[in-house]
Amino acid sequence: MKGCCSCPSGTGLPPFPASSFTLQKSYNPPSVRILLLSDIHSNLEALDACVAAAPAHDLVVNLGDTVGYGANPNEAIARAQALGRVFVRGNHDRAACGLMSIGDFNPAAGLATLWTRDQLTAENLDWLRSLPQGPIRLDELPGIQFVHGSPLDEDKYLVSVQDAIEPLLASPVPLTFFGHTHLQGGFSLAGEISEAYRPTYRTVGKPESSDWPLRKDNDKDTDKDKDENKNKNNASRYLINPGSVGQPRDGDWRAAFAVFDSETCIVTFYRVPYNLRAAQEKILAANLPQWLATRLATGR
Ligand SMILES: [Fe+2]
Repeated sequence: MKGCCSCPSGTGLPPFPASSFTLQKSYNPPSVRILLLSDIHSNLEALDACVAAAPAHDLVVNLGDTVGYGANPNEAIARAQALGRVFVRGNHDRAACGLMSIGDFNPAAGLATLWTRDQLTAENLDWLRSLPQGPIRLDELPGIQFVHGSPLDEDKYLVSVQDAIEPLLASPVPLTFFGHTHLQGGFSLAGEISEAYRPTYRTVGKPESSDWPLRKDNDKDTDKDKDENKNKNNASRYLINPGSVGQPRDGDWRAAFAVFDSETCIVTFYRVPYNLRAAQEKILAANLPQWLATRLATGR
């Protein structure tokens, strides 16, 4: 099953067991590896580098903002469509196709949105308008949901633990994958303890990966413990951000993505160098704001 990353219809996955995904040791779904892409932002060079570096996977999920900021909106959409059919709409997707005002955008983002709208084909404008609002849940993936911002508000930025607590407590599923902040990492809630997680890397210029093993609840529980805890709503919950493919803002210029392996319950974060110069030159050639090119080099 691994390696099937361009399923012709739906997700192409076999049905999963009816039980919900609780991250418990007893849960033993068939292995599925999800390639998570978010915030591509019309950066074709970064997207191509991510796809080239991605390990074998069964499904691609796009967490929104395929367009905006960068110089290749139509090309980025074409690539994203070829990768898979699971999408969540982002705020830049909505703004580019006229579903949302640019009133809250900074001047550079607003100019880039208007430029993007002018570049997009009629077909791609229609496609952007058709993208679904999160949270997205798939029958084949119980216990997992996909959003752009917060599960409670698609436009909210989840930057801090304080931001994450409410959606973590309210979440009906243990795993939520999100984007929007362009910050790779996530948040966890176990009992009353909530924490932020950021992957660590050794370099700033080479391809690297970093594993985040998710907690499997009840790993050390006895049968008696399991009985007592069975009805308690104390399973670990996670909010996980694969980072931004095309415009990272965590100080690392490399393109970001992640892969979740349901069998091992490990999220592997990736950072890959890409042809930064080419992406910058396209932005400048398009007369988009210069800052949109220079910020790519600093990852801010
Ligand atoms: Fe974004």
